[in-house]
Amino acid sequence: MTRQPRFSRRHLLGLAAAAGVAGGVAACTGLPRPGPAGPAAGAPFADPPERRARGGLLTGTLTAGTGVDLAGVAGAGLGYDGTSPGPTLRLRPGDEIALHLHNGLDTPTNLHTHGLRVPPDPGGDDPFRTVAPGETADYRIRVPRDHPAGTFWYHPHHHGTVADQVFAGLVGALVVEGGPDLGTAEDHVLVVTDTTLGDDGRVAAAGPMDRVAGREGELVLVNGLYRPVLAGIPQRSQRWRLVNATCSRVFDVSLDGQDLVHVATDGVFLPRPVARDRVRLAPGNRADVVVRPPDVPGDVDLLAADVDRGGMGGMGGTGMGGTTGTGPVVLATLRVTGAAAPTPPPPAVLSAPVVPPGPPDRTRVLTLTAPMGGGGMGFGIDGRGFDPARDDLVVAPGTVEEWVVENPGTMLHPLHLHTWPMTVLDAAGSDGAVRDVVTVPAGGRVVLRVAFTGATGRTVLHCHVLDHEDAGMMATVRVGGAGTP
Ligand code: C2O
Ligand code: CU
Ligand code: CU
Repeated sequence: MTRQPRFSRRHLLGLAAAAGVAGGVAACTGLPRPGPAGPAAGAPFADPPERRARGGLLTGTLTAGTGVDLAGVAGAGLGYDGTSPGPTLRLRPGDEIALHLHNGLDTPTNLHTHGLRVPPDPGGDDPFRTVAPGETADYRIRVPRDHPAGTFWYHPHHHGTVADQVFAGLVGALVVEGGPDLGTAEDHVLVVTDTTLGDDGRVAAAGPMDRVAGREGELVLVNGLYRPVLAGIPQRSQRWRLVNATCSRVFDVSLDGQDLVHVATDGVFLPRPVARDRVRLAPGNRADVVVRPPDVPGDVDLLAADVDRGGMGGMGGTGMGGTTGTGPVVLATLRVTGAAAPTPPPPAVLSAPVVPPGPPDRTRVLTLTAPMGGGGMGFGIDGRGFDPARDDLVVAPGTVEEWVVENPGTMLHPLHLHTWPMTVLDAAGSDGAVRDVVTVPAGGRVVLRVAFTGATGRTVLHCHVLDHEDAGMMATVRVGGAGTP
């Protein structure tokens, strides 16, 4: 049932030896043990380190660097301040981020605060910026006082290097504190990434087919750990802030045999808690869930079942690109021990119901363009690849737009818009939530409303399958500023 990572036999033997598992294998092959650490399951769960705002300011240097441990393999990947994920940035509405981003990588990078409703100013949350290797760049991002309290994240956004950097672990969570008291005794960040390690113990490069389909890693990690074990006490509930920081995976999260109580999507509280047997997360999405460990001690697996994203039509179905919808994999294990220590359930009402903004001042049709079987099309939006110098969508500040997003292709695409949240009007599975990543099914469409209020500036919308974004499925959006309207 559980999908195993596909290692070469040689690598697997090395891992087994290193992890001290299957001792007989190590003994009979004469492999040295203990060798260098390999991706061993069962490490204790740990939240990422934290950086907190003080006196309204989150300041200091954040270094993007190499040689970071991933899945217990020393120096395998990339990270911020020496860890993957990097430190969780914690602040409150009204606080300001004043970080110096140091690029210790050998490729260009920059910093994006995914989901924050902040202006995309130069020097702020600017996806067009280049921070060259060796450079240190100052960022100032003010979080509005009326910003929702919830779970967000940060990652690089330098067009062309995003997928490689994220796949190697260059991501971190960002928590805007506040919101209703959920009655939980613990609050954990679970940043889900995936990656593939080569025989050299480093993150493997993606091949051309991976770049078309959107790469999926062999190892699915939680806070950089392979199947960590999270401690729980019977009936003592925990808030889990799940972040899908993978490059491409769309997955359904479930807790084996038990409901998850879903309380927030993409950093925004739902009107009321909803018990679900699974919660779907496309790349970039977050879900906050309340987990109440069972009455009886034992192990419960947190699972992720891959959703089939489709493949290139006319070339053997999903065979090409290989997004096969396999699963589930074990993300983590909740190990429940001790005597029951009940905590109260979350409140029955969490927030005001979502009212889609409207009526729209303008309606647009956007078409997601992807290579089709045999066709010569590249990735783009409305048939055009990404050009950072071109204004694609020009929006009048303060207006409401309705977007009909068409996906005539054979792969699904999770569409992400910076700064301004989207409300889905009609789509299969729509729950009326406000989102910053909306999945557009293959051969389907979604209808969205966006209120362009609160911030002005020039930024992007794009597919959050990061290989597709790097390949050009991204457009600019300019709200106010030079020229019309
Ligand atoms: Cu999560 Cu434009 O990014
Ligand atoms: Cu974003
Ligand atoms: Cu895509």
